[in-house]
Amino acid sequence: MAETATLTIDGKSWELPIIRGTAGEPAIDVTKLRDLTGHLTYDPGYGNTVSCTSAITYIDGDAGILRYRGIPIEQFSQRPNFVETAWLLIFGRLPKPHELAAFSAKLTANAHLHEGLKHHFEGFPIDAPPMAILSAMINAKGCFEDDFTHLEAEEAFEETAASLISKVRTIAAYAYRRSRGLPFIYPDPRLRYCANFLHMMFSMPYDQHLLDPDIEDALNLIFILHADHEQNCSTSTVRMVGSAKANLFASLAAGVCALWGPLHGGANAAVIEMLEGIHQGGLTPEQCIAKAKDKTDPFRLMGFGHRVYKNYDPRAKMLKQVADKVFSKLRRSDPLLDIARGLEELALKDPYFIDRKLYPNVDFYSGLIFRAIGIPTNMFTVMFAIGRLPGWIAQWKEQHDQVGGRIARPRQIYTGPELATYVPIERR
Ligand code: SDX
Repeated sequence: MAETATLTIDGKSWELPIIRGTAGEPAIDVTKLRDLTGHLTYDPGYGNTVSCTSAITYIDGDAGILRYRGIPIEQFSQRPNFVETAWLLIFGRLPKPHELAAFSAKLTANAHLHEGLKHHFEGFPIDAPPMAILSAMINAKGCFEDDFTHLEAEEAFEETAASLISKVRTIAAYAYRRSRGLPFIYPDPRLRYCANFLHMMFSMPYDQHLLDPDIEDALNLIFILHADHEQNCSTSTVRMVGSAKANLFASLAAGVCALWGPLHGGANAAVIEMLEGIHQGGLTPEQCIAKAKDKTDPFRLMGFGHRVYKNYDPRAKMLKQVADKVFSKLRRSDPLLDIARGLEELALKDPYFIDRKLYPNVDFYSGLIFRAIGIPTNMFTVMFAIGRLPGWIAQWKEQHDQVGGRIARPRQIYTGPELATYVPIERR
């Protein structure tokens, strides 16, 4: 017997189908609601709205669970391999050794930028925000593709996915180098994904950046933890743009723009700015907490709270451990890390945060780790984008492969004037 929900309006009732996901999470299917009842659903911010079915990532926000293609996120920490996780997300299973080797070879072969693309960097102001450069350069990369429709074939899609995942590092590193007036460092085909990125970021023509294997592992895990997260704001943006049959590059460039927002991927930088504000004596942790609770103050405790997690974000838990490892390996201490821990302790005991189930999220500790590795604050969200790119690609592909996909087009409740008349300018 199919499960249904009964909707009654003005004494008339309708049975609406209930659909359930793999873990049994229920949703009322309202695809026929307007035709049946003349009514729409109202859900600004889509907090109660399912936009699609997806087999890529599963979150249980109450239990603090995150799984990629069914694999709990914690299991990726033993031998973190971001490239392998990217393949898993995009193609739906763990790659066999020869498949991973072939995919890695594609990333190595595609790490360089077309010299024509390289010249684009000169067109940006020296202090251009790296996220603006990243979005523009991803779109510009599409201009060097022979044609966008070629992505239909699996082999061509894998080649393009590898090229984007590989080049996003080069674009990010070049944006950093240009902002510092440093020469671009070409990718080194002998280096693995994360080592090559840090090589392009920090080597000099006369001095190769030597990467500590523990830091390489940490960066692999950090990118893995950022790789996908259901239908968050930027992923929904990628799907929204892709639903119009826009090409992959345009869809990803739009995702970068959504991620840039301080309520989303921009929060990792906002956390550091908040902690620096406390460190420089502008604020005490107690004042910070008080401002975050004050409804008349727009200030929020950045890196805290989440639309889905009403428990500790499992990624924040893992990143806190990564931070400990990185700081001890680099024999570094950072007063901001101590302030972050103190702030977390205060917030987790405060009824305001407890009642609203506000816990540290992925952005609370990630910035501190990037800082320890030497990444500047204005590159933190670019780091998030590097990690999230495979998730966006996987989600775009999943939507693209779905037969009968429709263009995304939400409705609205109109609250403007009922009927107005045009008044010529001479009579206004
Ligand atoms: C990411 O969606 C994803 O999956 C995103 C992400 C991903 O991997 O893609 O996980 C990455 O974006 C993480 C979130 C990074 N953003 C921040 O850390 C910014 C600070 N956090 C908040 O702005 C907020 O918590 C959001 C944006 C994350 C979630 O916002 P919601 O779901 O719209 O929550 P809300 O505004 O409805 O808040 C509910 C209540 C409100 O208070 P009341 O009106 O009930 O009294 O909680 C309060 C809010 O004022 N609140 C906060 C707060 N977050 C929520 N109060 C103080 N500080 C905060 N951080």
